[in-house]
Amino acid sequence: MTLERTVKIAPSILSADFADFGREIRAIESQGADWVHVDVMDNHFVPNLTFGPPAVKAFRRHVTTVMDVHLMIAPVDPSIQAYADAGADILTAHLEAGPHIHRTLQAIRAAGMRAGVALNPATPAEAAAHLLDLADLVCVMTVNPGFGGQSFIDMTDKIRRLRAMIGDRPVHIEVDGGVDPQTAARVVGAGADVLVAGSAVFRGGSADRPRIYGENIAAIRRAADAQTGTLA
Ligand code: DX5
Ligand code: ZN
Repeated sequence: MTLERTVKIAPSILSADFADFGREIRAIESQGADWVHVDVMDNHFVPNLTFGPPAVKAFRRHVTTVMDVHLMIAPVDPSIQAYADAGADILTAHLEAGPHIHRTLQAIRAAGMRAGVALNPATPAEAAAHLLDLADLVCVMTVNPGFGGQSFIDMTDKIRRLRAMIGDRPVHIEVDGGVDPQTAARVVGAGADVLVAGSAVFRGGSADRPRIYGENIAAIRRAADAQTGTLA
């Protein structure tokens, strides 16, 4: 497997209209989203509560790209099969969510999903050193997880270290939190290839005015592509 290094934009539906997820998902996909990022929060690992497996399963009916499920829950292992059954393509667990992240990543792959490991801002890149053959994605949090709309915390040094540690392994580096066109350029320049964005995609638009989503996604993509040299 070779890693496709084209930058992917993954809008977080945490910033969507919670009464209208189906139309919101269809709107962002029609406007150029590469993946759909689904933030699962348990009011325990993080101080906020969103949705669980039945809702994620309902989202699946509308997702035609990649459903990227970010678990901000503890413990993780008892819920892995439920998210596989709900149709997650990628399931990301926090390294800080329990003592046995190695086992968790193995269990996610064994359930047929791609495995992601997320690192809180205070967790060093080196904490993932022994996980890089078990993970398909490392998610570098650039906010403390729990809420959309927070300010970006600079993790470019961590991203650079991780990209060097990953070497030629087919592992994505995803960045989550406070991503907008300015910060997108910085993290892609450091080696990230998946950009989660909530506020910066949904700001000013709606399922009735999806063109705004398209403009917001395009602005992030232009900034990212300028770093990779995809655009002249
Ligand atoms: C934060 C979530 C993010 C969040 C990003 O805990 O994991 O995915 O929705 O939102 P913005 O882009 O608004 O920072
Ligand atoms: Zn997220």
